[in-house]
Amino acid sequence: MSVRIGVQPKPPPGLAAPLLRWYRCHGRRGLPWIQGGDGSGQGRSPSGRSVDLYLVWVSEVILQQTRVESAIPYYRRFVARFPDLSALAHASLDDVLAAWSGLGYYARARNLHRAARTVARERSGRLPETLEGLIALPGIGRSTAGAILALGRGHRCPILDGNVRRVLARYHAVRQWPGTAAVRRRFWELAERHLPRRGVAEYTQAIMDLGATICLPRRPACDRCPVRRGCIAHRDGLERCIPVRRPRKKLPLRRTRFVIAVSSAGELLLECRPPTGIWGGLWCFPECPPERDPGSWADDRLGAVPLAEERLPSLRHTFSHFRLDVEPILLRLPPSRPATLAEPDRIRWLSPPECSRLGLAVPVRKLLDIIVPRIRTERKSER
Ligand code: ADE
Repeated sequence: MSVRIGVQPKPPPGLAAPLLRWYRCHGRRGLPWIQGGDGSGQGRSPSGRSVDLYLVWVSEVILQQTRVESAIPYYRRFVARFPDLSALAHASLDDVLAAWSGLGYYARARNLHRAARTVARERSGRLPETLEGLIALPGIGRSTAGAILALGRGHRCPILDGNVRRVLARYHAVRQWPGTAAVRRRFWELAERHLPRRGVAEYTQAIMDLGATICLPRRPACDRCPVRRGCIAHRDGLERCIPVRRPRKKLPLRRTRFVIAVSSAGELLLECRPPTGIWGGLWCFPECPPERDPGSWADDRLGAVPLAEERLPSLRHTFSHFRLDVEPILLRLPPSRPATLAEPDRIRWLSPPECSRLGLAVPVRKLLDIIVPRIRTERKSER
């Protein structure tokens, strides 16, 4: 009788070889920040020019929030304006933010500018070529630093952005949510384990491309995947359940009341919210504490007693850290409503078309969609 002792499940084969083969036919080549790089990872393009780490850095920061196809025109515009680190370091922040416009997440542009100034001042304009040196700069985390050195210099540095994490999670069927320190450590180990000895730049681009084009979050195209033979999630039919989503916390519930004040001329009262906090800088209906009587609130705040009040159905809005139940209340104000308010820059009576030209909080837009047609109909029938 034979006894099988200590038989371990076979670990999946490496990702690198099939990915490198796939990349030669299907990977993204000719990305402008690599300047015709051959992907050999030696930091040189075929013409012998060194790959410019500044360009790779800019591209990686843009790509933190934007897909490659959409990023390229923004990237070209940015580097036409700031072709090297010195140009960026010597530019004003306003110019940098203007060149970043359309990309959003302006903190990234601010960090890019701050980091360029630090490198210009402290390192004569030469970007560090170590993980630690890059991570010490504002806005560069471990994955971005790894990508800069792997793509730009072929250093054996792993990366772990969302796409790569998804590929690794499925390939190894990691059934834990990657938000805890222990699981993150496990992912970094996996990312490191698969790095090839040669061709790190190609491999790095390939695994990102695989995540962006094949190993998609919702509908992975496993039939076209070059690594499906080793993929445990695919073998076990788990590709739709991995990566595991963040366990849902029960978010606290808050309440507020929106006062939708409508003047006899059919105008609506909106106020601009303070720049920080929820809906920062957006226009919103004034808020009245739910326990307060709306009539006396209007009398105090607007100097007018409403002719009529109507409660509208509540809306629920979910933020990352709480849910908010909004109770809208429609107040019809008399013709004597105050024409000017205490802070005309911040609180205004506006016609419906004027409202729709402003940056509005989402529930305000939804409520306007309900109320404005009603106001229009009422005004027509009055005429
Ligand atoms: N995401 C971040 N960096 C990327 C790159 N170089 N290519 C594709 N997707 C990316």
